[in-house]
Amino acid sequence: MKVTLTAAKKAKPDFSKLGFGKYFTDHMLVMDYKDGAWQEPEIIPYDAFEMPPSTCVLHYGQGIFEGLKAYKNKEGQITLFRPYDNFKRMNNSARRLCMPELDGDLVVECLKELLRIDAEWIPTEPGTSLYIRPTMIAMDAFLGVHPAHSYRFFIILSPVGSYYANGLKPTKIMVEEELVRAPIGGTGEAKCMGNYACSLLAGARANQKGYDQVLWLDSNEHKYVEEVGSMNMFFVIDGVVKTPALVGSILPGITRDSVIEVCKKDGIPVEECRISLDEVMAANNEGRLNEAFGSGTAAVISPVGILYAHGKDMVINNNEMGKITSYLYDKITGIQYGRLPDEFGWIVKV
Ligand SMILES: Cc1ncc(COP(=O)(O)O)c(C=O)c1O
Repeated sequence: MKVTLTAAKKAKPDFSKLGFGKYFTDHMLVMDYKDGAWQEPEIIPYDAFEMPPSTCVLHYGQGIFEGLKAYKNKEGQITLFRPYDNFKRMNNSARRLCMPELDGDLVVECLKELLRIDAEWIPTEPGTSLYIRPTMIAMDAFLGVHPAHSYRFFIILSPVGSYYANGLKPTKIMVEEELVRAPIGGTGEAKCMGNYACSLLAGARANQKGYDQVLWLDSNEHKYVEEVGSMNMFFVIDGVVKTPALVGSILPGITRDSVIEVCKKDGIPVEECRISLDEVMAANNEGRLNEAFGSGTAAVISPVGILYAHGKDMVINNNEMGKITSYLYDKITGIQYGRLPDEFGWIVKV
C-alpha cells in the first residue's frame, strides 16, 4: 500500500463538542477498480475528489456505504467492533448494485493502517469514538443506465461525540403510514445511497412535527413494523424481546445481531418474527408492552419513549428507559469500550 502523509495537519476540534459527522481526519484510504481488478490501495491526505459532471454515481446512484466505529480503551489500545461483518454486508450490497466485491481481510488491514496514522483523532471522552465511513461509488463518465466499469472505494474517518450528550433521553418516533422505504425485492437490505434519499421526505415531515425519526411499515399492507430511519427496532412484549425478521426489505444491522446474540447468551427470551403495528398498540393498551428500543452503530441502543401512530401518541414504559434496554446498552457498550470481557470475539485490535 502506498502512503502519502499530509504536509499540514489540521487543527483538532474541541473533542468535548464533536456532534456527529462534522469533522474529518487528516487522511483517507482510496482504492480504484479498473480493467476488472482492484488497484493498489493508497492512504492520502483527506481532500476533494475531482470528477466530471457526467460521473454516473451522480446520476444513477450506483453507490453503497458502511458505518462502523473505532475506540481507544483505557490502555490506549485502538479497537474495532465487528469490522469483518461490515465488509461482508458491503459485499452483499455490492452484489445487489452490480458493483465489484472487496477482499474484506485486505480492507480491514488497510483500515488498521489508516487508524494508526490518524490515531490522535480518536477521542477518549466517555461515549465518544471515531466513526468510519467506507464508501464505494461508480466512476464511469457516461449517461445511460447500466453498471459502470470503474469504481472508487474510499474510507473517511470522523471523530464523533456521545450520542447521549444530553443524557439518555428516550426518543419520539413517528410511524409512517403513507410513504414506504423499501418493497420486497427492492434494495432495502442493501446499504445503498438511494435508500436514504427516499427516506428524507418522511424524516423531514416527522422532524417538523417534533419527532426524532420515522418507523417504517411494510410496503405491501402498511401493517407490519420494519425499521427506524437508521436503526433496527425492538419491542419487549410480555418479557420477550421481539424484532422484525429480516424479510429482504430491512437492513441487517450489526448492532441488531449483537442484541440477539447477547439475549441468547444471557437467557433473555428473544424472537425474530413478523410484528404488526396493531399488535404493538394492543400490547401497550393492555400493559404488556414493557419496553421499545432501536439499535444501530451511531446510538448503539436508543430507548423509544413515544410512538405516534393512528393519529395519537402512545407512551411506552412511562417514557423511561426500561431494564432490558439498559442492560443491553451497558453490555454492548461495555464490550465496545473494553470495560467488559469480549465473550463473543467481536473486538478486533488494531
Ligand atoms: C436503515 C438502517 N437500519 C439499521 C441500521 C443499523 O445497522 P447497524 O447496527 O449495522 O449500524 C442502520 C445503520 O447503519 C441503517 O442505516
